[in-house]
Amino acid sequence: MSRAIIIGSINMDIVTYVQKHPKVGETIFCDDVKYFPGGKGSNQAISCKRLGCDTYMIGRVGNDEFGKQMIHFQKYEGISTKHVKKLDGELTGQAFITVSKDSQNSIIVMSGANLKWDDLFLEEITFKKEDVVISQFEVPNHVIEKAFMLAKENEAITILNPSPMRPISHQIKKNTDILIVNEIELEELTGKIDNIQDETTLFTHASLLIKSGYKTVIVTLGSAGVLLLSSKHKVIIKGHKVTPVDTTGAGDTFVGGIASGIIRGLDMIETVKFANIAASLSVTKEGAASSIPTIDEVNSII
Ligand code: RIB
Repeated sequence: MSRAIIIGSINMDIVTYVQKHPKVGETIFCDDVKYFPGGKGSNQAISCKRLGCDTYMIGRVGNDEFGKQMIHFQKYEGISTKHVKKLDGELTGQAFITVSKDSQNSIIVMSGANLKWDDLFLEEITFKKEDVVISQFEVPNHVIEKAFMLAKENEAITILNPSPMRPISHQIKKNTDILIVNEIELEELTGKIDNIQDETTLFTHASLLIKSGYKTVIVTLGSAGVLLLSSKHKVIIKGHKVTPVDTTGAGDTFVGGIASGIIRGLDMIETVKFANIAASLSVTKEGAASSIPTIDEVNSII
């Protein structure tokens, strides 16, 4: 049976709700503060699970209250946490998020245990051909390099979501099957985009990534939809219109949707449509993991 295996970060999100983001040097009051399960890796795992995948999380938390709560939450959702280690003397990752009335967010991450991996982290798991292996950039390069190398040696499919962006090492790149970026990350990888609204310009930038060796490139364009480029596809799939409340975790929901479509045998266009709707539903609710829809909720709209 195919599995979604996520190697990634686990954070507790501490979210303040404000009228508008403070300027540098400004002190403002918030309307509310809430604690939500988060971390790009954990959110992607929750998305995979709620969207119908047998899901395994490989991650690190501190041996503290947030770590216990995060593992409890993942287990409650039905994710295998056998490979989530609690590290003594480390803090569980925390993200300090501010969401304004116009649903824009800013995020500061304290990585803590997410950066503490030894080289033995993959000894207990064997990748299989049917698996989809996912990572993002809130864990160190050496972790992703090793995981993707082993995944490809076993012919699994690998998905890289290089967020927050840093240079992508050759070792990671050569073992990445599907690259998922947003417009800002596309720009960071390919240079300044003159007109972000112009489809031809977007395809020109995405094709630079294909020329550099990526097989499938997916660019999320917010409410404008999703660009898909590969040897088989060159298409922009339009966005699903919703009223946004909080966009935190939309990208993570999308990544889980892609894994779900692949694992369930959908073709790539159907997969992107499915993930797009899942991500659009997630922005209609507060929080990251807490806003991710179930497969039934997505299918009721398709
Ligand atoms: O992508 C959203 C996530 O980024 C948040 O849940 C936060 O933890 C940060 O990692």
